[in-house]
Amino acid sequence: MVMRLTILGATGSIGCSTADVIERHADSFCAHALVGHRNETRMVELAERLHPAWVVMTDAGAAGRLKGRLPAGVQLAAGMDAAVELAQATETDMVMAAMVGSAGIPATLAAVRAGKRVGLANKECLVTAGSIFMQAARASGAELVPVDSEHAAVHQCLMGHDRDSVAQVILTASGGPFRDRDPASLADVTPEEAVAHPNWDMGAKISVDSATMMNKALELIEARWLFDLPAGKLSAIIHPQSIVHALVEYTDGSVLAQLAMPDMRMPIAYAMQSEPRLETGISRLDLAQTGSLDFQAVDERKFPAMRLVREVMGGEDSLAIAMNAANEVANAAFRERRIGFMHIVATVEKVLERVENIPVGDLEQVWMIDAAARKAAAEVIGR
Ligand SMILES: NC(=O)c1ccc[n+]([C@@H]2O[C@H](COP(=O)([O-])OP(=O)(O)OC[C@H]3O[C@@H](n4cnc5c(N)ncnc54)[C@H](OP(=O)(O)O)[C@@H]3O)[C@@H](O)[C@H]2O)c1
Repeated sequence: MVMRLTILGATGSIGCSTADVIERHADSFCAHALVGHRNETRMVELAERLHPAWVVMTDAGAAGRLKGRLPAGVQLAAGMDAAVELAQATETDMVMAAMVGSAGIPATLAAVRAGKRVGLANKECLVTAGSIFMQAARASGAELVPVDSEHAAVHQCLMGHDRDSVAQVILTASGGPFRDRDPASLADVTPEEAVAHPNWDMGAKISVDSATMMNKALELIEARWLFDLPAGKLSAIIHPQSIVHALVEYTDGSVLAQLAMPDMRMPIAYAMQSEPRLETGISRLDLAQTGSLDFQAVDERKFPAMRLVREVMGGEDSLAIAMNAANEVANAAFRERRIGFMHIVATVEKVLERVENIPVGDLEQVWMIDAAARKAAAEVIGR
């Protein structure tokens, strides 16, 4: 049977890598719907390659500009409601959740509630609404499969093993482009320097998050939900080569690691079909050529996001929502050259000082805390 995918964030980096995996396995996968936001040029190219039944642009202006440019038989819709409809449609077997930011939450949650297989690239879903997503998945039977390379690695290292025997899950972090820089020299780095990731080719927002290590902070929160682990069993280590993606240590001292060349097509393919494994076209790992694999502890003075996340994981859900929202605002402000690099995490920290530490029961509450944190971040930046 051919698995029909709806790709949320089709025009992004993960979306395009997903398209590549679909094309390599056209006998097993096809695109039912491609959802983009504003990049209509990329969408035309993708629609010509994948011939989906539907194309959605969540931005109405971009949808208008697409009229008459899609291949025959491809239907066009505009707006987030259309994305939600297609994510939960009967014709969708799997949803690849790869919209950036909290914009990705409604359509992804709709897919989970409809019991779909959901490949989760978007971190914000679990970071901000982890309990809501996990509850919805339990109720509908939806399968939430990680797409982040680190979480896909953990998934593989846990497969077939006793959960109670897990002593520690360790996510690796490249340390980003500023890993070896003196913190004092980071005040003046430009957005161009911050997005130039040494190992991964990613979207701008996540690349900046990688440079601040906020990305790893969010991934730790995500891992807590995905694998139902206490915060004390989750940690991160710097591994500049990005070859080892995660390690799982068991109570007997045995440590399992997952290794692969850094190319998102591997975890994407694993999320689409874990077994039997799919051919992905990624470069083969040649350890003799790699030579050495290095590891170092995370310096929390240089990467204060990693200190903040321990406080956030020790508190209630409101803190994670505020951390994510404030970071989105500060990350964008940095990319727009309105604040310096070191002010990104400093802004998040100031917002966290103002947030009430409370549990969260529904999406309404999530949006309220999210909005308040964004407002607080804008105020901090405005000063
Ligand atoms: N790239 C990676 O290697 C990687 C690895 C792990 C996890 N992730 C996660 O996967 C997600 C996507 O990352 P990416 O690197 O693929 O990002 P990206 O290249 O920036 O792509 C983002 C996608 O989201 C769409 N989008 C942007 N703003 C939107 C809005 N307001 N409403 C609806 N759609 C919107 C974009 O549409 P247009 O381009 O058409 O405007 C694009 O399709 C992120 O949550 C990221 O943290 C990425």
